[in-house]
Amino acid sequence: MSLATASNTKASNMPSKKNCRVTKIDALTENISSFEIEVLDEGFDKPSFDNLEPGAHLDVYLDGDIIRQYSLWDWSDDKTKVSVAVKREDEGNGGSLKMHQLKVGDLLVIDGPRNHFELLANAPHYTLVAGGIGVTPLYAMASELRKNNAKVDVHYLVQKAELAAFSKHFKELAFNEQADSSYQLHCDDKDGLFDFDALIKKIPSDSVIYTCGPEPMLNKIIDVVDNSTEKHELHFERFTIATEELEKENHSFEVKINSTGEVYTVNEDETILTVLSDNGVDVPSACAAGLCGTCITDVLEGDIDHRDGILSDDEKASNEYMCVCISRAKSAQITLDI
Ligand code: FES
Repeated sequence: MSLATASNTKASNMPSKKNCRVTKIDALTENISSFEIEVLDEGFDKPSFDNLEPGAHLDVYLDGDIIRQYSLWDWSDDKTKVSVAVKREDEGNGGSLKMHQLKVGDLLVIDGPRNHFELLANAPHYTLVAGGIGVTPLYAMASELRKNNAKVDVHYLVQKAELAAFSKHFKELAFNEQADSSYQLHCDDKDGLFDFDALIKKIPSDSVIYTCGPEPMLNKIIDVVDNSTEKHELHFERFTIATEELEKENHSFEVKINSTGEVYTVNEDETILTVLSDNGVDVPSACAAGLCGTCITDVLEGDIDHRDGILSDDEKASNEYMCVCISRAKSAQITLDI
């Protein structure tokens, strides 16, 4: 099993904040809306987005202090406009509510896009499993794969049909009219719980699986893929950090800044990011939760205790870079290439 590979992780980590404007808002369901965001032409910079790829996400700065990550589901051919879809979480911590308070014409600061959920080209077959609002990066992938006439089976999992914000969009891709491709909407209320074991048994043995959705769904897919006799490549993107990472015990360690030789202690209740910030060492960050990749920093010495939700197994095993907002050190000291 492998997570999403991001061969250009470091390059995609370059900050690229842009002043933008909301140009269109469409209600897709009662609590999911699509927001079209246009980069402003301020006369001194290229007024377009880079890294527009399926799987990429934006950092959206809301009222300055709230930063949220939203996956792209669409963008304009001239790269001046991107679209994200956001589910309003009335009991959430405020980001989605702020998004849903936006009006056409409102100004926003956007960083990115960055991509840690890249779509591999030329796989023999793709299985896309989208759960709830996790559909957004998978719709972008489905759209791209449809253009390339790839073999794709899409499974869109929702609690009930009224919550399927992208069902119409998937139908327009017309996978069911293609040989060796399909689109299936699964509604828990009428279809029962989705049978992941049956899915893994019936997909082609060379199918590459992409999935994004709620944590229980991801854990179930990871489990059935791990236990499958066929060794499918699995790529997934999390909304939250895996429970086992959050439950790990913290130990103190030292972090060394290579350029200055300064050494700081990171106590059990601190992160590398907060310690660096307290000591005037600036590392770009956004989510502070191991989910966006903004703070990825090269490591020159020491063993990393990876706890983020975005680096692939291969990237973690390389021990070359880390998310300093959440990951820690297994060794007594770790040296950062800062
Ligand atoms: S700031 Fe988002 S992963 Fe570290």
